Amino acid sequence: MSVTQYPTLIEDDNQGEPGILILDQTRLPHAAELIRLSTFEDAAHAIRVMQVRGAPLIGATAAYGVALGLRNDVSDAQLDRVLDTLGATRPTAVNLHWALARMAQVLKKSALAGRREAAWNEARAIAREDISANSAIGKHGLPLLAAHYRAEVNSAFVQVMTHCNAGRLATVAHGTALAPVYAAHAAGIPVHVWVSETRPRNQGRLTAWELAEVGVPHTLIADNAAGLLMMQGKIDLVIVGADRVAANGDVANKIGTYLKALAAQAHGIPFYVAAPVSTIDFSCATGRQIPIEERDGAELGADGVPVANPAFDVTPAALVTGIISERGVLPPSQITQWRS
Ligand code: MRU
Repeated sequence: MSVTQYPTLIEDDNQGEPGILILDQTRLPHAAELIRLSTFEDAAHAIRVMQVRGAPLIGATAAYGVALGLRNDVSDAQLDRVLDTLGATRPTAVNLHWALARMAQVLKKSALAGRREAAWNEARAIAREDISANSAIGKHGLPLLAAHYRAEVNSAFVQVMTHCNAGRLATVAHGTALAPVYAAHAAGIPVHVWVSETRPRNQGRLTAWELAEVGVPHTLIADNAAGLLMMQGKIDLVIVGADRVAANGDVANKIGTYLKALAAQAHGIPFYVAAPVSTIDFSCATGRQIPIEERDGAELGADGVPVANPAFDVTPAALVTGIISERGVLPPSQITQWRS
């Protein structure tokens, strides 16, 4: 992917006062603004209110949040306070908990004198690994799109449907579900993306914004239009991201993903999930153990009526054609191979 003017997360050393800059995703697509996070409370707030969002980016931001939290106090008590605060921000995206567990493991072994530096180094490593994992996802997913291009005789474009935003904005760079799309676009394969709006938070608008940024043809649709497009033969394959994948291949992702998987199966359309191995929770046997975030009903914008606002759903492994990770593409039943 090309260098972009607006990174999702970068370090910002303001005359010896280390912080991070994030692209405030609550302002997109209307305004692109970088804001500075200087404390772990800033990082927790940014994750909670979704200024940063998307499982991998939440994980990287939380890791930097730990480093920010040790700025003036590197004690065990402070470390625990920081880990607890960040860990309570969002429950479903396992990358958050994975990143915090990794930071805890490194920092609890580190001598107090070197703890602050160790925290920055580990956060940096998590961010860099996210970039390389997503780039590898693009490489492994590219042949799936290329195969559709070769198979298509009547269509100028490979037609991909996605849901929510699992592009570069949901990661440090490259995206997960959109990584194969960007790789195909860069390889000269004509690809068009059907972007579902993703109520109630409209992350589809973010997907449209970032596809426009690099010139990938796309069309925004209301979520409920997906079934009709599949029935009309307009979709070659579906690729979505994931917030947590259970060991049996059940996939928690943005609410509405399950309905797309059901419709895809009904129409014989391949349904892929793209996610780094850090999104697989091998301690979760099935999707039933995945905590589903319930968000504020006000997000639905309906006053004076009782509302429920589950932010994620679980797509059973049986509906998933394959999981694309930095290690390759496997049917969901085989992902325990990636455990080591
Ligand atoms: O609530 P969000 O916007 O953080 O949810 C994001 C998603 O559901 C993404 O599809 C998922 O995190 C995969 S991101 C690469």
